Amino acid sequence: MSTTNASRKLLAIPGPIECTDEVMRAIAQPTKSHMDPSFVATFKEAIHMTRKVLYTTSALPFILAGSGTLGWDQVACNLIEQGEAVLVLNTGYFGDGFADCLRAYGAIVDVLRAPAAGEIVAASSLEEAIRKRKYKAVVVTHVDTSTGVLSDIKTFSSIVRRVSPDTLVVLDGVCSVASEDIKFDEWDLDIVVSASQKGLGAPPGLSILVASQRAIKAFENRKTPVAAYYCSWQRWIPIMRAYDAGKAAYFATPAVNMIYALHASLKQITATEDTMRARLLAHRRAGERIRAVARQLGYKEVPKEGSAANGMTALYVPTGFAPSDVMPRFADSGVVIAGGIHKDIKDKYIRIGHMGTSVVDNERGDIEKIEVALKASVAAKQDLVATEEA
Ligand SMILES: Cc1ncc(COP(=O)(O)O)c(C=O)c1O
Repeated sequence: MSTTNASRKLLAIPGPIECTDEVMRAIAQPTKSHMDPSFVATFKEAIHMTRKVLYTTSALPFILAGSGTLGWDQVACNLIEQGEAVLVLNTGYFGDGFADCLRAYGAIVDVLRAPAAGEIVAASSLEEAIRKRKYKAVVVTHVDTSTGVLSDIKTFSSIVRRVSPDTLVVLDGVCSVASEDIKFDEWDLDIVVSASQKGLGAPPGLSILVASQRAIKAFENRKTPVAAYYCSWQRWIPIMRAYDAGKAAYFATPAVNMIYALHASLKQITATEDTMRARLLAHRRAGERIRAVARQLGYKEVPKEGSAANGMTALYVPTGFAPSDVMPRFADSGVVIAGGIHKDIKDKYIRIGHMGTSVVDNERGDIEKIEVALKASVAAKQDLVATEEA
């Protein structure tokens, strides 16, 4: 099986991530009809387990063939009408992307930008902004994958509910679902956008979006038709409700094998309440461990004190190094990491993913492998400098 092939490099980018053998076996099974009763039962369970991961009982999951970006389009085309205002809290590259997508469908977008890369948006700025203007939605990137900054969505949501109760709270959880704590019902969220290839532990290929009943109502109360076809909820709500109830329905062919893969991963994630709790703890410990080693080697964290995500780490390379020095050393150690994508700091930092089975299954030794690669990443140049000086 691919996960135990010694010559293969460890995938340690912030998504896609390593998948378990069970997930890979699920995707490799013969494709079934999307009307087949056994597929219908699998899809139903996947929908129910998606609710479990987000601690919601009443929200409606949409599991569509596509990537995380399709969730942005779903929000923009279904919930925002031409000329309605949306506030985007921006902590990096993916906040820019969500804002662009909203504008593409005619939204008026106001942006509250973190003062610098690695910083968060202050809760007081959010409160001030929503007191000044009525917004249809407030959009927050939970973990901006470009900076590794974790936003405090619980606090942000409580502010929106207090100040502007019918404004929709939209969370981009592409890099946080199943690796960070999200309590959909308790925190009164309206939308969580995600994808299969990060904390949810399946290969890329599924857009996963969860919508509150408040959001569904906002969609149903639209005054204008949806200016999109594939991602219109007019088509998808009946389909998702049918599979949720264990009945087959057709609008566009579901990604059958991807849904088998997601189902296999969700089964592992949601096995018990304890496994869910232990999973979040494992992500936190892995992040702390990697960052402690990195600090000793001269790396510096991009997120400011206390705002680092648990499922990924963004690190400024040590003085005297460039990402192009250290990244090949990681590859030599059998570990694939990612370079920078935030425009202000692009050539100064690297990103390491530590999500899913890599942090949960200690027997794999993935975190140790990342630690060894981190050490080798600076040792090689230090050796070189020492030789040149000798
Ligand atoms: C926070 C965040 N939002 C959205 C996306 C877009 O997801 P996708 O690349 O699956 O379309 C990503 C991708 O990494 C992301 O990290």
